[in-house]
Amino acid sequence: MSVSIRVTDVRKSYGDVRAVDGVSFEVNSGEFFGILGPNGAGKTTTLEIVEGLRQSDTGGVELLGESPWPRNPKLLPRIGVQLQGTAFFERLTAREQLHTFGSLYGVGPKRADEMLELVGLTEKAGTRVEKLSGGQAQRLSIACALVHDPELVFLDEPTAALDPQARRNLWDLLRAINETGRTVVLTTHYMDEAELLCDRVAIMDHGKILKIDTPAALVRGLDAPTRISVDSGNLSAADVTRVADGVAEVADDGAILTFTTRDPSTVLTALAEARVLNGLQVRGATLEDVFLELTGREYRA
Ligand SMILES: Nc1ncnc2c1ncn2[C@@H]1O[C@H](COP(=O)(O)OP(=O)(O)OP(=O)(O)O)[C@@H](O)[C@H]1O
Ligand SMILES: [Mg+2]
Repeated sequence: MSVSIRVTDVRKSYGDVRAVDGVSFEVNSGEFFGILGPNGAGKTTTLEIVEGLRQSDTGGVELLGESPWPRNPKLLPRIGVQLQGTAFFERLTAREQLHTFGSLYGVGPKRADEMLELVGLTEKAGTRVEKLSGGQAQRLSIACALVHDPELVFLDEPTAALDPQARRNLWDLLRAINETGRTVVLTTHYMDEAELLCDRVAIMDHGKILKIDTPAALVRGLDAPTRISVDSGNLSAADVTRVADGVAEVADDGAILTFTTRDPSTVLTALAEARVLNGLQVRGATLEDVFLELTGREYRA
């Protein structure tokens, strides 16, 4: 397997803030790689250094066998970049915007129109970009990043402003792109997104990568309890005490009652005996538990 990206001990400070504090990782060709972390973790700064948009203070970056800094024109047709804050050309419609981006790369208008369709913006083709909603603008910026069919795509929180349906559509699109052999690097603060899409995830906090692995391996490495939830209101206080019976912690948010336990069979048996399985959900460890274990604090995206 060839390596598409090699990052070695990259550092970047803004005054006293160590935005990127000794980051190293590799991304293989064809991989779907995620950088997951809360606000201010250093995801965007890392990505911009890898993309060649920002200079690191120290450390090395190799992108498709080239150095991305100083700005390397050889790389531009091979990579697609969607920035967290997107700037479009003023006063152009969505279609004109994509046609312009496409023409910069020698891509014809037909492909640009196909991209508009692919991100579900055909209806908005004639709308000026300043009149697009946040989610629509985000989808347009993703179309712009993909229009020249790059072999490596960088996406910085691509689903942040999308509604659930648009999010799922975008996940399908990104998966399809990845399945054709394209390498995808994405940042997100959504645990579920990272878990669902990525072959490997780097968990980042305070400028450092704490751990990199497949989502399954990250979760499996934990000795985390099981959470068992049922609808609140079905259980009397006495039931709750009996079900918990020293093997579970209980939390009730008024709608859902959650037992956190390392002995799920005892709790499930007690719930079944009390015939209060309405709304039953059983959840094992998630990436949120991994974050908690790595940092000692709850994950707040
Ligand atoms: N241009 C800048 N000038 C000064 N400080 C900056 C600049 N860009 C980022 N920072 C700081 O560097 C740190 C990392 O920021 P960065 O944007 O890389 O984080 P992030 O993980 O992308 O966060 P978010 O999830 O909010 O996008 C933050 O503390 C931020 O305030
Ligand atoms: Mg960011």
